Amino acid sequence: MYVLGIESSCDETALAVVERGERNWVIAEKVKSQVLLHAKYGGVVPEIASRNHYEVIDYLTAGVLEEANLTIEDIGLISLTAGPGLIGALLVGLSFAKGLAFAHRIPLVGVDHIYSHIESAFIENPEIEYPLIALVVSGGHTAIFYQKSKFEAEVLSKTRDDALGEILDKIAKFFDLGYPGGPILDRIYKDGDSRRFKFTQPRMSDGSADFSFSGYKTAVIRHPDAQHIDTGTRIFKDLISSFLHSVVDYLLNKTTAAVDNFRVKSVVLSGGVSRNSLLRKKFTEEFAGKTVKLYLPSLHHCTDNATMVAWRGYERYIRYPDANYADFHLNSYSRAHFRESTKHR
Ligand code: KG4
Ligand code: ZN
Repeated sequence: MYVLGIESSCDETALAVVERGERNWVIAEKVKSQVLLHAKYGGVVPEIASRNHYEVIDYLTAGVLEEANLTIEDIGLISLTAGPGLIGALLVGLSFAKGLAFAHRIPLVGVDHIYSHIESAFIENPEIEYPLIALVVSGGHTAIFYQKSKFEAEVLSKTRDDALGEILDKIAKFFDLGYPGGPILDRIYKDGDSRRFKFTQPRMSDGSADFSFSGYKTAVIRHPDAQHIDTGTRIFKDLISSFLHSVVDYLLNKTTAAVDNFRVKSVVLSGGVSRNSLLRKKFTEEFAGKTVKLYLPSLHHCTDNATMVAWRGYERYIRYPDANYADFHLNSYSRAHFRESTKHR
């Protein structure tokens, strides 16, 4: 079966065509990033995001089908990101997907963006075994999940304030380094000495396993040595290096604690921030030679893409085949809401 995936929850319009069933492979992918449009604001502007999705979604769809050497009539299933995300951005995807589904009588399923990030690790690693622990760390979300099976999940930790990607973007904005901040800080930390500054890993006073990252941001931008700092200096590189090492250790400690608490076979690290070289390195070292296997998506499937959406949509469809475009439920942005709605069938 050929599956068309559509992703428009934030600042990437992405389309993908995959084949699932007997053969499982990615046929064509397109990602139109809006990074340059939002760069001067240092973050995503929702209205600009929606307009840009609207402007490009139809020609990207035509382009991905052409690249796949298929027509819309060949598509057996459309899978759409149903949230969480920016409501205007999601609505552009939904209107478009509904139109296609209705006009061509194609089943339409909606999938959760966060679970799609976890699914991204399965594209190149179909052998991943459940139960698993997944750390999803992106611009909008940072959470640890326990998944007993593909559609049975529990949130173990979530951020009480900003997501880590958002923190990296804000720190880079504060120092006028550019947007998005994650990849920029990923380059800077490599030249720094991580032992120079001390950061404390936050602990929840109520004993919960949740994350908090805002203290990290304050500690970086208010650091006495950060005032009027020149970002080309050694001291700045040391500050970023010390911060990144601490925050990656924090993620690693939380994840290994979850792994120790549950008898899992696999660990998945995903989301845009999982492109980070230090994060990948420390997780890889931690799980090397262990019975619990670590899986990382390929770099281009860490950030928002439609392949992960198509992949998960198929999994959903084979379990719940009564897809119905007329009865569709969107999740607008909510950190607390992680459950894939059972309303969209
Ligand atoms: O998953 P994603 O594309 O979008 C959301 O669903 O949020 O993640 C985007 C985030 C941004 O905050 C960006 O700064 C971060 O991923 N990011 C990175 C790296 N590449 C992208 N963070 C750290 N290191 C990187 N190499
Ligand atoms: Zn994402």
